[in-house]
Amino acid sequence: MSATPSDHAARTVIIDCDPGTDDAVALWLALASPELNVALVTVAGGNVGLSRTLANARAIVGLSGREVPVVAGADRPLLGAFQAEERVHGTDGLGGVRLPEGPAPQPGIAADAIRDLLRDAPPESVTVVGIGPATNLALALATEPALANRVAEFVLMTGALSEGNWTVAAEFNAAMDPEALALVLASGRPVSLVTLDLTAQALVTAERIATLRGLCDGECLRACCDIMASVPTSRRLGHRGHPLHDPCAIAWLLAPELFTVQEVAVQVECGSGIGRGRTHIDRWGRSGLPPQAKFLDRLDADGFFRLLGERLPRLP
Ligand code: RIB
Ligand code: CA
Repeated sequence: MSATPSDHAARTVIIDCDPGTDDAVALWLALASPELNVALVTVAGGNVGLSRTLANARAIVGLSGREVPVVAGADRPLLGAFQAEERVHGTDGLGGVRLPEGPAPQPGIAADAIRDLLRDAPPESVTVVGIGPATNLALALATEPALANRVAEFVLMTGALSEGNWTVAAEFNAAMDPEALALVLASGRPVSLVTLDLTAQALVTAERIATLRGLCDGECLRACCDIMASVPTSRRLGHRGHPLHDPCAIAWLLAPELFTVQEVAVQVECGSGIGRGRTHIDRWGRSGLPPQAKFLDRLDADGFFRLLGERLPRLP
């Protein structure tokens, strides 16, 4: 397991999300981990519409007891129309699990809040975690490109080496806003890529939920387990459970030893063809492009769920 939290200074983190059942677990994991200073949570309409993803983000942060500004962002992609994924997340975005209303959102819009935070930060000091469509991140970077040098690393749950989960070709976050993803990939800053191929190894099963549920009776852990239990098993993964996507991006920051990594060159397909949102991940230098991302390849799944079990009970 990673070094004890007190060993290192906390890492400043922005989390851009679209809660979303797995976003909820990711946010609670981050908020439970003293290694991370979650300085800002920004929200996009993604899994469900922005009015619901924003309310969900506020409620998730509120239940954690942590005082973190939550700021609303884009309710649609840069191009194209908004599409929801209610089959996985339910119409409310949290699988029908009702949380107490959270604190009011911070006024303003996400892209401005991201830029304001980066502008006041030292070079290469802020880790930006993107676990929804990358629209807010792209808007921030496109408006003030020079601020990219304040970013230490983008950690993105996006894309797929193999088949998609939204179209045959594309993973949901990448498919919702491929132009935004292309802008972030072109930022020149280090990118760590958490794809469907990695998250398929983080399989939530009834047994794993039961193990977590038995650890404590905290409200956040209980809600976490109820939310995970609401998600249908994945037919793509043979109904062996469902992949816990977004928390893998947080786990990379907390316990990188749980992962193997490969340097890759990644491109995302834009345009209107059947490949829209496809991430072309070059692991062997066939594209002639220089690697610009870390592809998180293998996951120690048991270690990952142990990490969840070690951290989530720390919350109220
Ligand atoms: O494809 C999975 C990703 O899309 C996750 O981030 C999920 O929350 C949705 O945003
Ligand atoms: Ca998400």
